Amino acid sequence: MNEIKIAVLPGDGIGPEVIKESLKVLGAVSEIYACKFLFNEGLVGAKAIFNAGNPLPDETLEICKNSDAVLFGAIGDPHFDNDPKAKLRPEQGLLKLRKELGLFANIRPLKIFDTLVESSPLKKEVIKDTDMVIYRELISGIYFGEKFTEEQGEYAYDVCSYNRFEIQRIAHLAFQAARKRRKKLTLIDKANVLDTSRLWRKICQEISHQYADVTLEYIFVDNAAMQVILHPKQFDVVLTENMFGDIISDEASVIGGSIGLMPSASIGEKYSLFEPIHGSYPQAAGKGIANPLASILSVAMMLEHLGYDAESRVVEKAVATVISKGCVTEDLNPERAYSTAEVGDFVAEFIRNSQKGSYYNYENIQIGKSTIV
Ligand code: IPM
Ligand code: MG
Repeated sequence: MNEIKIAVLPGDGIGPEVIKESLKVLGAVSEIYACKFLFNEGLVGAKAIFNAGNPLPDETLEICKNSDAVLFGAIGDPHFDNDPKAKLRPEQGLLKLRKELGLFANIRPLKIFDTLVESSPLKKEVIKDTDMVIYRELISGIYFGEKFTEEQGEYAYDVCSYNRFEIQRIAHLAFQAARKRRKKLTLIDKANVLDTSRLWRKICQEISHQYADVTLEYIFVDNAAMQVILHPKQFDVVLTENMFGDIISDEASVIGGSIGLMPSASIGEKYSLFEPIHGSYPQAAGKGIANPLASILSVAMMLEHLGYDAESRVVEKAVATVISKGCVTEDLNPERAYSTAEVGDFVAEFIRNSQKGSYYNYENIQIGKSTIV
């Protein structure tokens, strides 16, 4: 029996609710496959500030370093967002965690589920068959450069810097991914204005010689913001720096119908962390309306990364089936919405039944009479 140690960091807002469903799904996976998950929970974010006076307590970091992977919920709290003078901020917990674990590549895949083509505000013809993956650099750039706010509070700066090593390591991963896909890599930058962007272009150009089968294209970030929703199909693998990646990936999630569907994997040399791209959505916390599928799909990415391919595929298949049967939260279907826990139950139930050859009776879902309590 394989034992997999997972650090669980639910965090703030809807984080704990979506994580609960992910753990439910892992429970179902362990019932039918020869793997056992050992969960170790840690405090992070606003909750950690309130409880331990630190957005990333040492103990939490230790738990992460002693695990095979980290499962992360969400972070952020309006209490801090509305107080620009706050010295401690929940987000510092996540940023420090990414840095300490060396998670330099944040991978954000975007796929369109057929039954959801109508859920996006964008036209069906525009988004149908979109299949892209964003490689976002995660531990450098303006997020981690020198910061300063003058005492009188009238002047501040944030420095954006990159070096060859930081660009190279993620660029190689992105080229390798492109090689396994449609062999196209698009670098998003602002090379007409920024020195850091020109460095990205130079280094990516150099590296491209090692990947002659991959076409490298460049696009300025302002144009990319438009192209991503005008012609999303043109993108295969997208590579970009930290802040552009943060912004473009939220935008790209609109294509899929909901930000509540987009998972991510953050990968380093030694550690890995899996989290939905959405935030803590405090307005929804405790209401049972949060979409757990981005977190559950992050679990699928985690299983794949750890080498559990069959387990990963069954989770993905369960999610696709549940969506195709219309068992979704209100962000995807306000008229016939299921709760966070119900969606998690259906995914888990599909997995449990997947080996019996007889899948769950979805007729019940459609008429709203689930047999699952
Ligand atoms: C994300 C989030 C974070 C980021 C925040 C919470 C610090 O928006 O993971 O995309 O900006 O990286
Ligand atoms: Mg973001």
